[in-house]
Amino acid sequence: MNAVGSGSAPGKVILLGEHSVVFGQPAIAASIARRMEIVVRRQDGAKPHPDPKVAAALEFAAKERDLDPRGLALEIHSEIPPACGLGSSAALSLALVRAIADLAGADLVGDDARVRASRVEDVFHGTASGVDVATSASGGVILFERSTPPRIERLRPAAPVDLVIASSGDPRSTAGPVGKLRARNAERPALYGKLFRLAGEIVSDGRIALEQGDWSGLGSLMDIAQGVLNGFGVSTPTLERMIAVARGAGALGAKLSGAGGGGVIVALAPANAPEVEAALRGAGFEAFVTRIGDSKEVGNAR
Ligand code: PMV
Repeated sequence: MNAVGSGSAPGKVILLGEHSVVFGQPAIAASIARRMEIVVRRQDGAKPHPDPKVAAALEFAAKERDLDPRGLALEIHSEIPPACGLGSSAALSLALVRAIADLAGADLVGDDARVRASRVEDVFHGTASGVDVATSASGGVILFERSTPPRIERLRPAAPVDLVIASSGDPRSTAGPVGKLRARNAERPALYGKLFRLAGEIVSDGRIALEQGDWSGLGSLMDIAQGVLNGFGVSTPTLERMIAVARGAGALGAKLSGAGGGGVIVALAPANAPEVEAALRGAGFEAFVTRIGDSKEVGNAR
């Protein structure tokens, strides 16, 4: 038992397959080089965290380790912007589980961190597919499929490749667009079932393109995926504008990433990421470059 525990975890970006992953189709996602770090300290008279969801997550994670959450103070240092589709709540859940385990002097073995963090993430989202936590826990690029237990396969891109991520600045919740699509699907299950299967095929083809280094093929698949996401009703005029800017600046493909309804876009730019980033910034959006498929990526470090 320690007086202080710490843990960290990276954010993530979904390359292909958001939303359809909730309905059992595969998705491809990658961790990004932006992390969340949490320090938990035993402290008499510690005040509950001001964000009620974070306080609830701490309570849940502490009780699972038979710790009294009332004597615990939480410090969060995050490089991941919140509520924009870059996996901040998954990273928080995972960093919290690691920090609490550190505090309790307990080991997290095998898949334990992911499983526990998925339960914590349910405090935030209710019925997340689990892709965010799985990506953050594995690190690198993965193919994820929701099942019991989930299928998590590490992918090896043919070479490291640059993505540009840009934020619309419009906050969003994951639950909003997910709930909207669930309602649409309940109304027309045959139609949406076809779209979900198409989205799944795009992911399967995307995996091959990624592993073969066929960047123009992968870019086209990202563009087509954006068309399907539009069909799901989760894009916005601002996201469409950003996607047009990225493509106009030479990105090989661009799409929204995460739940949509605001949040971020991701653009594939293997040869000209700085130009694409500059064009998005010039249009007034925050943007940064992240490289995926680098063997140095680590997701499971404490
Ligand atoms: O929370 P976000 O924006 O990263 O969205 C997660 C991806 C979804 O497929 C939309 C939801 C889920 O639980 O998989």
